[in-house]
Amino acid sequence: MHSILIAPSVLACDFGRLHDEIQRVQTAGADWLHLDVMDGHFVDNISFGPAFVDATAAVATVPVDTHLMVSRPDHYWPRFSKSSQNITIHVEADCDVSDTLRAIRSAGCTAGLSLRPGTPFSAIERFLPELDLVLVMTVEPGFGGQSFQAAMLEKVRAAFAARARLGLSYRIEVDGGVNLETGLQCVLAGADTLVAGTSVFRAPDMSETILRLRQRPA
Ligand code: DX5
Ligand code: ZN
Repeated sequence: MHSILIAPSVLACDFGRLHDEIQRVQTAGADWLHLDVMDGHFVDNISFGPAFVDATAAVATVPVDTHLMVSRPDHYWPRFSKSSQNITIHVEADCDVSDTLRAIRSAGCTAGLSLRPGTPFSAIERFLPELDLVLVMTVEPGFGGQSFQAAMLEKVRAAFAARARLGLSYRIEVDGGVNLETGLQCVLAGADTLVAGTSVFRAPDMSETILRLRQRPA
């Protein structure tokens, strides 16, 4: 069984104090740092690019988990590979998914595959043996601070069941609207990696929030 990891989404931090915010969340116990790259085309928002991820990686003491919400991840992933331990692409992107996953792994990163809320789990099934991580989006990608879509828990259960059935070991990550209550639902459904932006960076006590998010129910 994978241990539960908490990956705060840097998108929710104060960009004007980036290094302080990274240090603050690492001191509070973050296991990974989640970096949301948006190109204004795959999603209706533009966030940040390689220079920002490099600036984060420069002060990171934990793995950097880069989530590419871009139409052409096959073209852009190399610009993130030096600063990232994991790179996740979307199954809906305009590229050869298997080729891109293989290339990411050959560069020494782990590779993840994500799906939008409207995409069925069956769309990623044939790629499962090629993955280090499955990222189930629990909001429509593009913005932090949205409400968790509980219907996505079915995909978490499907990813969990398929992993056991196929004898695989990918992590199951959830992203969007994760807080103490919804995070627990995700863990109960089989998730082991929780992305949390707003609930961590806006928490009155960040350490306590990360600790409680990581707790596996008895
Ligand atoms: C949404 C991003 C998420 C987002 C999560 O497109 O992929 O990582 O930053 O933020 P919260 O936890 O605030 O929903
Ligand atoms: Zn994300």
